[in-house]
Amino acid sequence: MTSALATARMTASSFDPKRVRADFPILSTTVHNQPLVYLDNAATTQKPSAVIERIVDYYTTENSNVHRGVHLLSETATASFEEARMKVKSFIGAAEAAEIIFTRGTTEGINLVASSFVAPRLHEGDEVLITAMEHHSNIVPWQLLCEAKGAHLRVVPIDDRGDVILEELETMLTDRTRIFAFSHVSNALGTVNPVERMIAMAHGRGVPVLVDGAQAVPHIPVDVRALDADFYVFSGHKLFGPTGIGALYGKRSLLEAMPPWQGGGDMILSVTWAKTTFNQIPYRFEAGTPNIAGAIGLGAAIDYVGKVGLRNIAAYEDELLAYGTEKLAAIPGLRMIGTAVKKASVLSFTLEGVHPHDIGTIVDQEGVAIRTGHHCAQPVMERFCVPATARASLAFYNTREDIDALGAALNKVIEVFR
Ligand code: ALA
Repeated sequence: MTSALATARMTASSFDPKRVRADFPILSTTVHNQPLVYLDNAATTQKPSAVIERIVDYYTTENSNVHRGVHLLSETATASFEEARMKVKSFIGAAEAAEIIFTRGTTEGINLVASSFVAPRLHEGDEVLITAMEHHSNIVPWQLLCEAKGAHLRVVPIDDRGDVILEELETMLTDRTRIFAFSHVSNALGTVNPVERMIAMAHGRGVPVLVDGAQAVPHIPVDVRALDADFYVFSGHKLFGPTGIGALYGKRSLLEAMPPWQGGGDMILSVTWAKTTFNQIPYRFEAGTPNIAGAIGLGAAIDYVGKVGLRNIAAYEDELLAYGTEKLAAIPGLRMIGTAVKKASVLSFTLEGVHPHDIGTIVDQEGVAIRTGHHCAQPVMERFCVPATARASLAFYNTREDIDALGAALNKVIEVFR
């Protein structure tokens, strides 16, 4: 069955991970002479043929610069690029395509908001609020900014399960808070935050919010308007699309009031030695030739995910995560890091007496790819008093057999260290 047919025939009741696997060429390869078991999806996801072929097709038949030419190729590339923006808009429920800015990824989106939205509003003694489960990309830009401005970075604590302590959040939102920036889903713990409630709490104090959706959009449906997010950022490569492309959503009223971030081509209306005037949104924030193929590839990934259906994905992955949690709980000496009430995709753990890097190296020999280390979230490791964890992270193409392979590989680790 072809990829298009495989996905088009899928309905909520007939979701079959084995069928979608056929859409991902890399999943039928081997590593160390073993079938690949890919469980590092929080780091990056694999790409379906539909995405790979769309990028090849773009470079084969459409390659040109956008917004700059009157020739047919340029018009075609521009149409495909802007169509991709429309796809992102619909995917996250934005009101209009002008509210979608293409970025290099989540990190760039956060830095853009820090520089263009928060910096002009942040003064000595003001506060930026984040949570204790953030990725470094949602810590370091704020640290840099607070240092430059003499402002304070405040951190809402998390409990032993890895849930944000909402009572603390309530008291830490003050009239000095200029932004509350937090992840929708934690990459290190898998916690799914009660985003709608957290946004409402912030808005109740007049505080704007930025949501880091990098680990959310591949797993659960997101509607930025229903959430009332002011800014929402994500990366293409965690959504089965290419690397080097992502999106920043911002409410029109906020984006329009923001000064340009980077200067260059496409973000201007006119340039003279005396004065430069700037383009309208979203182009004002897209200086230079953008990642055209990346954006188009991201559009293809969104189409693909749409055909599989995020509701199918969420339901299936919930069941797979429960299976994985139970399976790992049976492994002697295994401690799960992150046991939040609501989780997505992530099984982060330690094994008594074994360094996580050794776990990763041994299971790799069995064909099982997981990530080990601090997962760009060192404060989370500190919170749980571990230097690092081993992390298996799931996508909808993973199966119970993949979890069983992980379990068997972990038993080998235990044998080696016995
Ligand atoms: N943020 C990515 C991860 O969690 C790289 O692995």
